[in-house]
Formats: sequence, C-alpha cells, structure tokens
Amino acid sequence: MKLARKITSTLTETWLGLGLLLGFFLILALYLTGFPQFMSIDTYKLSEIEKGASKEEVALTPPSAGGETEFQEEEPKKTEEPKEIVPMNPICDFSDWRYDGCEMHGDARALGQENNSIVYFIPPPSQIETAEAQEWKVKSQSRKIVGIREVIVKSLNSSSPPAPECTIRKNVPALVFATNGLTFNLWHAFSDVLVPLFTTSRAYDGEIQFLITDYQDWFVEKFDKVFKALTNYEIIDFDTDREVRCFEHIIVSLRGHKEFGIDPARAPRNYDLFQFRMFLRDSYSLPFWLDIPYKVNNSPDKKPRMMIILRGRSRKFENADEIIAAAEQVGFEVIPGKPESENMTEFAKKVDSCDMLLGAHGAGLTNMVFLRTNAVFLQVEPWGNMKWACDLFFNEPATEMRLRVLGYNITAEETSLYEKYGKDSPVIKDPDQLEKWGNGSLVYWQEQTLRLNITRFTPVLEQALQLVKE
Ligand SMILES: *[C@@H]1O[C@H](CO)[C@@H](O)[C@H](O)[C@H]1NC(C)=O
Ligand SMILES: *[C@@H]1O[C@H](CO)[C@@H](O)[C@H](O)[C@H]1NC(C)=O
Ligand SMILES: *[C@@H]1O[C@H](CO)[C@@H](O)[C@H](O)[C@H]1NC(C)=O
Ligand SMILES: *[C@@H]1O[C@H](CO)[C@@H](O)[C@H](O)[C@H]1NC(C)=O
Ligand SMILES: *[C@@H]1O[C@H](CO)[C@@H](O)[C@H](O)[C@H]1NC(C)=O
Ligand SMILES: *[C@@H]1O[C@H](CO)[C@@H](O)[C@H](O)[C@H]1NC(C)=O
Repeated sequence: MKLARKITSTLTETWLGLGLLLGFFLILALYLTGFPQFMSIDTYKLSEIEKGASKEEVALTPPSAGGETEFQEEEPKKTEEPKEIVPMNPICDFSDWRYDGCEMHGDARALGQENNSIVYFIPPPSQIETAEAQEWKVKSQSRKIVGIREVIVKSLNSSSPPAPECTIRKNVPALVFATNGLTFNLWHAFSDVLVPLFTTSRAYDGEIQFLITDYQDWFVEKFDKVFKALTNYEIIDFDTDREVRCFEHIIVSLRGHKEFGIDPARAPRNYDLFQFRMFLRDSYSLPFWLDIPYKVNNSPDKKPRMMIILRGRSRKFENADEIIAAAEQVGFEVIPGKPESENMTEFAKKVDSCDMLLGAHGAGLTNMVFLRTNAVFLQVEPWGNMKWACDLFFNEPATEMRLRVLGYNITAEETSLYEKYGKDSPVIKDPDQLEKWGNGSLVYWQEQTLRLNITRFTPVLEQALQLVKE
C-alpha cells in the first residue's frame, strides 16, 4: 500500500505521466530480477557486495594486529565480542598521503574543549604498565590541509595524569571530524567531507555517533538529510560539549581516498561513487525505482529537461540567454539553476527532474550527484589548461556515478581574456607560461567570463539531445 501511494504521489508531481506507469512495471520486473542499477541502497545491504567486502580500509591497523577489523566487530548480527581487545599500536597513522587518522578500541574518552578537543585512549590493564604515553595532533577531516581543526589524541600509560571520569557512556562507535575548512564550496563539501564521511561511517548502518569539531551550524543544517541517513544519534557539537563521553571505539578523522571519490578496494563493502549517489537519492527521498533519465519516446509531447548552472562572477556565461535559447531551439526544456541561493532539498529535486546538467567548470556542477543513472553531464572547459581539473574533479566522478559525460572546449575567442589581454598575450598564447609564473590560476580561474559561440556550441547540444533520447 505504502509503495502504491508513493508511486501515485510521485507520478502526479513529475512530468512523466501515465506512460511511466508502464515503464514502472518494466523497471519493477528488472528490479525483481536483481538488476543492481535499480536496487535501493537497502537492497544493496542484503546483496552479495556485502559478503565479499574488503574491510581493511577504515581500520588503520595492519591486519596482523589481532586479526580483528572494526567492521567484523560492528557487524550487527555478530553476537560474540572479543573478550580482550588488542589495542592498536600505534593508534594513529599519518602514513596515508591524503589523510591522518586514529582509531582506538577499548577505553576511549572524548572531552570537548574550545580550540582543541581531546580524545583519550587508556590501554587495557594488562598493557598500561608497559605502554608508552603518546600524543598526536590530528587534522580531523579527510585531507592534510592547513586550517583543518586539529583534535588531540592522547594515549596514556600508568605515569600519565589520569583521564577525566566518564559522564556519559554509549555502546556504539563514535566518529570525530571537522566541518570547517573549504566546506563553504559545494565541491569541497562533497569531496572533503560528505563522500569520506559516507566511506567511513555508512557501513555502521546508523549505529554510530558523530562528534563534530569546529561545528558549522550551516553545514549540518544544509546537509541534514545526509546526516540523518548516516547516524541514528544526536550530533554532538564537540568543542562546546562539556560531557566526558566514553566509547569502546572511537575513530578520528575521515577516510578520503581521492578527489571527490572512493577507492572501492579500500572501502568497507566495496563502496563506490555510484553507491554514494544511490545513498544520496535515498537520503533525499528521490525515488530509486525511477533512477533512469527521462526518455523522449515515453511521452512525445514532453521535452527533455536540461539544467543550466548559472555562475555569478568568474567563469560566468555572459550570453546565458543565447545559450538557453539555443538549447530550447534544439529541443530542450531549460531550467536555470543558481545552486548557491537555493535550499539543498529543493534543488536536489529539481536536478533529479532533469535529463542533463550543463555548466562551466565550477563547484555548482557538483549537483550532478542528484542526476539519474545515464543522465548527461556536459561541462564547459574554460580557457587555460583546465582539462586536467575538468577531468579529475568532475568527469571522472561523473563516470563513476554512471552518468554520461560530454565536454565543450572553448576557443580563445570565447573567453573574456581575449579582449582583456589581446590575442597575442601569453594569457591566450601560452597558458603554460602563466602557470610557470604562478599567476595562471588567478587569471584563468578568477578573471575570465565566457561567451559561447552558439554556432560552434549547437552541435554539442544536438549530440547531448541524441544521447538523452537513446
Ligand atoms: C581559542 O582561539 C581563539 C582564536 O584564536 C582565541 O581567541 C581563544 O582565546 C582561544 N580559546 C582558548 C580557550 O584557548
Ligand atoms: C609512559 O610514557 C612516557 C612517555 O613515552 C615514558 O617516558 C614513561 O617512562 C612511561 N611510563 C611507564 C611507567 O612506562
Ligand atoms: C529546505 O526545504 C525543505 C522542504 O521544502 C524544508 O523542510 C527545509 O527546512 C528547508 N531547509 C532550509 C535550510 O531552509
Ligand atoms: C579540449 O582541448 C584539449 C587540448 O586541445 C584536448 O586535449 C581535449 O580533448 C579537448 N576536449 C574536448 C572535450 O574536446
Ligand atoms: C603574470 O606574471 C608575470 C611575471 O611576474 C607578469 O609579467 C605578467 O604580466 C603576469 N600576467 C598577468 C596576466 O597577470
Ligand atoms: C563561431 O564558430 C563558427 C564555427 O566554428 C565559426 O565559423 C565562427 O567564425 C565562430 N564565430 C566567432 C565570432 O568566432
């Protein structure tokens, strides 16, 4: 009944109409036959993926340390806990090129402090005598970049001053991480926090508590749907918290593998970016069973939808009106999007209703996470050797998320730098030189705006339309 209600209400609010109902039964058939593309994340939970999962990643200790990894311990159905947990030594590992992290099992206590919250680890009685007291400062996000709030991790021994007494005990693991840094930028919000947070915590199925250092209200509010989907517990503003929270398992900082991505070989349950996107669909209540883009043939009177991301300053489309007109001419219904000014939940729905996302290289394109499988992602590459960034930051993640990727390379005449510096300046002729001088990034990333040549761009729009209709 619930499902039927969901179907009807979703149908009435989408553009798909009746034709889709038939499509739905086809999808349902595929779904029932176990087509992974159409599974919800919960179906994933039950699937094969889980069984063969490599679980090394989040556990920083080498497998030799007692042979226990955290995921084996936390598996919901496992009844037997090891009697004495062998502590990790060292409990902190700074050897990954991307992130620093600690993980402790046993007696771990979290004490919030204004600028440097502390996590204490007290080794078991059998080891405290011989243990060495140690202290680490851990950049508590997914990257070792300047400005990320550090958490102090203290591993005690019998000559250390005693750790504070517990005021609250919880028998789920805790995860400590920071929400400051570059998170004001949507791409970094995903690349530095949300994706690594998913990688680190999703396998606990909500049975994990988050202690956030340098707590940013706006961030927690903006992504409340994601947080609610990842934890069943109250989110603690760690630095202002005055409790001593005790856990048997604390993880410090987030496991990030690469730019906006997950390395399935190192992730619990072999998570990948496709599963991250499916998880987001679930979190934002976007119907998983409609995870196919619009098909023109399903409903001849409806045009496929394209969202154009409109940037405000740098890399802005000067002739957005002409681009929109050209896209409409080709056969799209165009929805302008200004993600920065919109409510995330609302915006996610809007993107979900589109068959294609178009925009110049920039953070707003991160909204591709709300597109459906096989939707088209068309990135306009600005002037100045930006191909690597376009590929690394967006095209590769888009492919991993199972979107279809198109690109448009502008010519010199299409950047405002052409007018500003002249066609013979190194800015136009020799981007490599500017990179060497060190002012390349400033000029190309901050100064240029774009005026697309509609004659040249139209064939790409036509190609996109063909893809959407396929
Ligand atoms: C925390 O840092 C701020 C800014 O650097 C400083 O003004 C404040 O005194 C610090 N608080 C403590 C308790 O050290
Ligand atoms: C505790 O650790 C400190 C620092 O590593 C060391 O100097 C001290 O000897 C240790 N105490 C004992 C009792 O082992
Ligand atoms: C965004 O919109 C949703 C639904 O319309 C609403 O429940 C939520 O409070 C809004 N969030 C913010 C931060 O305004
Ligand atoms: C853009 O131009 C670069 C350099 O000429 C080329 O390597 C790249 O493949 C082009 N990209 C597209 C999408 O045409
Ligand atoms: C970049 O730096 C070089 C060397 O300092 C300078 O000659 C050139 O004018 C600068 N170009 C721009 C566009 O700022
Ligand atoms: C726009 O592109 C077309 C096709 O490539 C080309 O013939 C034309 O010269 C370009 N217009 C401008 C103003 O650069």
